[in-house]
Amino acid sequence: MKKPVDGFSKLTKEEKIDWLANHYFQDRKDAVSIIKQYWNTNAALQKLHDEFIENTITNYYLPFGIAPNFAINGHLYSIPMCLEESSVVAAASKAAKYWLKRGGFKAEVIATEKIGQVHFMYHGDKEKLVRYFNQIKPLLIEATDSITKNMRKRGGGILDIILKDKTADLDNYYQIHATFDTLDAMGANFINSCLEQFAKTFKAGANTYEEFTEEERDIQIVMSILSNYVPNCLVKAEVSCKVDELNEDQNISPQAFAEKFVRAIDIAKAEPHRAVTHNKGVMNGIDAVVLATGNDFRAIEAGVHAYAAKNGTYSSLTHATIDNGIFKFWIEVPLALGTIGGLTNLHPLVKLALEMLGKPSAKELMQIVAVAGLAQNFAAIRSLITTGIQKGHMKMHLMNILNQLGATDEEKSIVVELFHNKTVTHSEVIKEFNNLRAKSL
Ligand code: MEV
Repeated sequence: MKKPVDGFSKLTKEEKIDWLANHYFQDRKDAVSIIKQYWNTNAALQKLHDEFIENTITNYYLPFGIAPNFAINGHLYSIPMCLEESSVVAAASKAAKYWLKRGGFKAEVIATEKIGQVHFMYHGDKEKLVRYFNQIKPLLIEATDSITKNMRKRGGGILDIILKDKTADLDNYYQIHATFDTLDAMGANFINSCLEQFAKTFKAGANTYEEFTEEERDIQIVMSILSNYVPNCLVKAEVSCKVDELNEDQNISPQAFAEKFVRAIDIAKAEPHRAVTHNKGVMNGIDAVVLATGNDFRAIEAGVHAYAAKNGTYSSLTHATIDNGIFKFWIEVPLALGTIGGLTNLHPLVKLALEMLGKPSAKELMQIVAVAGLAQNFAAIRSLITTGIQKGHMKMHLMNILNQLGATDEEKSIVVELFHNKTVTHSEVIKEFNNLRAKSL
């Protein structure tokens, strides 16, 4: 086994790379050159990125693509998307155009409540704890005054704090459950700072609460942290049109398409294995915009999947109906997003992404992101129930295969043309590429 390293974070960037190259790579020169190849020549920009995290040695590129033509509530957006998976941006763009001709997307924010909890253990009489909580509650709020001052000025802040008895789930376990409105900020730091202050004030107050016995005074704060499960920070996006207007595909009638589409959604509602893949397709759209706009995609993922399982079984995030000849397709997702604070003020590409979206409020961004998820799901289901997914996927994958083979631009365009009306398989691409190379020898 290799020896552990001490004080790695104290090394300079060059020293870190040296250490890594010496310990983990046979061709150390090659490793160093790959690492440095991704450094930005603009030293200030590189320093900015270095300082986002610890122990940075280089940058990791993800494509930043654009899906244009999204009509949302009567505004036309070009949506920035960051992800590595080929065909996602193409699918989003296709879905955007499809719905542009059919009235566009409608979206509305249902609620914007964020949640945080102080988890604590209390051994004693519950009634006394309730009385103590009611007495200390105004003090808990007051103690956070300096933290919440600016947020309150802008119209947000703490909405409420309640005591929750969780002893049915775990012996002696209680919570201070707090709700917040953090306006255009995602609000993680704000919420966590408030919670830690609640915990301090709550614990200190218990020490002198006259009704408590010695044991009851000994409240044990376990942790204070926001929850990424935000079922009341919810946005809805939808599309609808007459069934007759639905499909341009000659191989399936609009009515049959609509019925098959609804069936596909019903399957994802009924069957968790399918629901996970179905929702993964939704997240292709959601995550890509969340990343491009500098938001925390892990928080969004965790919250969205918890919401998908809110009724006890993991199920579809999207819904579809046919009613009186009208096809309706919609999504409801919890999205705790921010358009100020965090990376949004720091990362030049995030700033650019937000400017491109018209400097949206957090609520507007929630709508845009939900639409991206719905569009992605529409594109996936449309392909799955008609041509199958591989046709589009492999077309996009063709470029990856050609890049792996080291094809020139000219060779790429010849091979792409060859596969215009032909199924793309890895072996067929290699065969055609080799034929082409052989001919030019
Ligand atoms: C692939 O990234 C996403 C899909 O599998 C989604 C789906 O099956 O609905 C195509």
